[in-house]
Amino acid sequence: MMLVKTKKELFEKLQMLREKGSIGFVPTMGALHRGHLSLVDFAARENPVVVVSIFVNPTQFNDPDDLKRYPRDLEADLELLKTTGCNLVFAPEAAEMYPEPDTRKFDFGHLEQVMEGKHRPGHFNGVAQVVSKFFEIVQPDRAYFGQKDFQQLAVVKMLVRLLNLPVEIVACPIIREKSGLAMSSRNELLSPEERENASLIFDILSQAKNLTGEKSVEGLVNWVIENINKNPFLNVEYFEVVDSENLQPVKTWEEKGEKTGCIAVHCGKVRLIDNIVLN
Ligand code: PAJ
Repeated sequence: MMLVKTKKELFEKLQMLREKGSIGFVPTMGALHRGHLSLVDFAARENPVVVVSIFVNPTQFNDPDDLKRYPRDLEADLELLKTTGCNLVFAPEAAEMYPEPDTRKFDFGHLEQVMEGKHRPGHFNGVAQVVSKFFEIVQPDRAYFGQKDFQQLAVVKMLVRLLNLPVEIVACPIIREKSGLAMSSRNELLSPEERENASLIFDILSQAKNLTGEKSVEGLVNWVIENINKNPFLNVEYFEVVDSENLQPVKTWEEKGEKTGCIAVHCGKVRLIDNIVLN
């Protein structure tokens, strides 16, 4: 496995590697866990060459404290990646990715006006800036994203359509801790007590999946919020039931199409997100 920190080195290595066949790309912000590694495994199964980027992208953080607190441990990340099918790690400094400020503004319409977009203004524009740069630099055949960041996946798919990029976006399932808590780099910032209580989020989401027969959409939304907020460690920011494709709000269970319940919960100083397909 090779590590490069500059675009120049990356281009050189990729020129050699590209001869082997298709390139699978996994963008990450590091502090890697089994969720990230599962994306690398999917990429390695489908491509002879796997590139992983590790870069805490400043432009997608709307909260400076969140950016400061974000866990970083390149050495540990490299140790983990050595155990996978990753061929090349790209871990640039901010100046390498942003030699000058990125002033591009993307318009994702409804996709960026709800849920994460509404509560984290500018977040998806920052994600689009960095992901489009990575796609230009790496020129992957396929890129792997987790369903954990459900709305990000929809935004990235739209980005690829908007820019006519020749990359296939592959969605990968959510990997969970034994307790059910969705794996996240931010889980490291939870105290043991908070971490234990945070497992209630998936517990309630799983119960909600079985209540769609007896509760209205609104009734279910209120039930989820009430039951999570009963726990003194947890405070729901939003829980919404949306159409899985276009993220439009679902009003009744009779509407056609797959429906996903998406949630953001504050646990101490940490903000956690999760989602579940409800039908
Ligand atoms: P990061 O939070 O590091 O996540 C990198 C990728 O891992 C994302 O596609 C995310 O959905 C996926 N992932 C995280 N936790 C997961 C889990 N428990 N199960 C499955 N997949 C999981 O998402 C980002 O970084 C950034 O926004 C990025 C796309 C790298 C742009 O900066």
